[in-house]
Amino acid sequence: MLKARMTLDCEYRTGSLDRRVFGSFIEHLGRAVYTGIYEPGHPSADEEGFRKDVVELVKDLNVPIIRYPGGNFVSGYNWEDGVGPKEKRPKKLDLAWRSIEPNEVGINEFASWSRKVNSEVMMAINLGTRDVDAARNIVEYCNYPGGSYYSDLRKLHGVKEPHNIKVWCLGNEMDGPWQIGHKTAVEYGRIAAESAKVMKWVDPDIELVVCGSSNPWMPTYPEWEYTVLDLTYEYIDYISMHIYYHKRPEDDTLTFVARAIDMDNFIKTVASICDVIKAKKRSKKTVNISFDEWNVWYHSSGRDREVKPWQFAPPLCEEDYTVEDAILFGSMLITLLKNADRVKIACLAQLVNVIAPITTEKGGIAFKRTIYYPFMHASNLAKGDVLTTLIDSPKYDCKLYTDVPYVEGVAVYNDENKEIVVFAINKSLEESSLLELNIVNDTEYRSIEHMILRDDDIYASNTLSNPDRVKPVSRMIGINDYKKIEIELPKFSWNVLRLIP
Ligand code: AHR
Repeated sequence: MLKARMTLDCEYRTGSLDRRVFGSFIEHLGRAVYTGIYEPGHPSADEEGFRKDVVELVKDLNVPIIRYPGGNFVSGYNWEDGVGPKEKRPKKLDLAWRSIEPNEVGINEFASWSRKVNSEVMMAINLGTRDVDAARNIVEYCNYPGGSYYSDLRKLHGVKEPHNIKVWCLGNEMDGPWQIGHKTAVEYGRIAAESAKVMKWVDPDIELVVCGSSNPWMPTYPEWEYTVLDLTYEYIDYISMHIYYHKRPEDDTLTFVARAIDMDNFIKTVASICDVIKAKKRSKKTVNISFDEWNVWYHSSGRDREVKPWQFAPPLCEEDYTVEDAILFGSMLITLLKNADRVKIACLAQLVNVIAPITTEKGGIAFKRTIYYPFMHASNLAKGDVLTTLIDSPKYDCKLYTDVPYVEGVAVYNDENKEIVVFAINKSLEESSLLELNIVNDTEYRSIEHMILRDDDIYASNTLSNPDRVKPVSRMIGINDYKKIEIELPKFSWNVLRLIP
């Protein structure tokens, strides 16, 4: 058995955890909206056509904010197409995903659905094919109370109260040649600055996210961040980051589950660039990070190539997540939490059907993928401040990295009830690991619950025919040797440990 040690001091904190790091994302892509969250005629559909079974699963995930409507989709989207009487809404070609978009769901429907799942909307605007004018109009439509053209139009559409959408994304992945209306950093920085300026003139209370690089492998990274921040710093509040990990044919499991090392470096680099521009501008404002797309994504790529273009709600990006994926996913979650001082918003991309923790069957059931569980645990239990967590763990070398700790984790402390929650993974395929918790402050702690996600088969996944193949087990435990809590992390597992004084 391996042996690892985690040292914690409740006074020694990395930062307060913004609940919005448990955000997610719904794009008009594949079956995320149509036959995902929205399916009139489904046995569980409500009066607006939203699936109540999906609403319940999303509510259990406790997602505070959901990015919408894209993604690549937004760069060709005219928001006006999705408002007003449904029968008059145009059917359009979505060039981003080569699908048919009927516009049956638009801003007002999505805002209504978000309320059902207790989330806020994080709205992305189109800076691919559109400009400053559309940017100011959409804020007026959504947030201005009334007495102006667009706010009165909203009322005419049956929505009396403004949506008061707080967080807005200034386009999506504008550095990517695949983006409709792709731009250079200077082209994008200028339009983002001017759009941001007028959007805040319409509603000074909004917060704005400027596009960072689509991933750290982009040839323009990190000059993109430097130039864009230089042009927009005074108008914006966050810079976006995106990352998806796929398992390359040459990757073994130990290499694959170590990938979040790159994510950590990526966050630290982007935070540093924010601070360089802050210094350059002599600014008092700190720009933080909105990690608004992150996940594991590779199972569906082959299948997607076979999907015929110009269909309505085609099955795109539908991932059969395994236990192996859930371990990397857990490591990515831990990485986000460890960077709580700079990452203030994050969106698991995405939420339903498309690279998602929830899968629906058209006309049938909705079920939880393996990645649902680590997200649900963290989102429901990580409350308060992230503790600066020191871990001493045996290490391994793999194809891409050296000195990778087998045991990785983070602890969150809740000042209100004094509870400490530890999230930890054991990456070893061979051995379980003892995790000794060394809590250095005077309060004596005892463990009350240990939740574990694992399976003998690391490639096991949940499927339509076996939707509960992989799920966590929970052990109530009462270790009372206060100063030395030791817990066994099974081999290749995700773990949550709750400790109370
Ligand atoms: O989340 C799926 C896609 O991945 C998004 O549309 C895009 O922003 C990213 O490349």
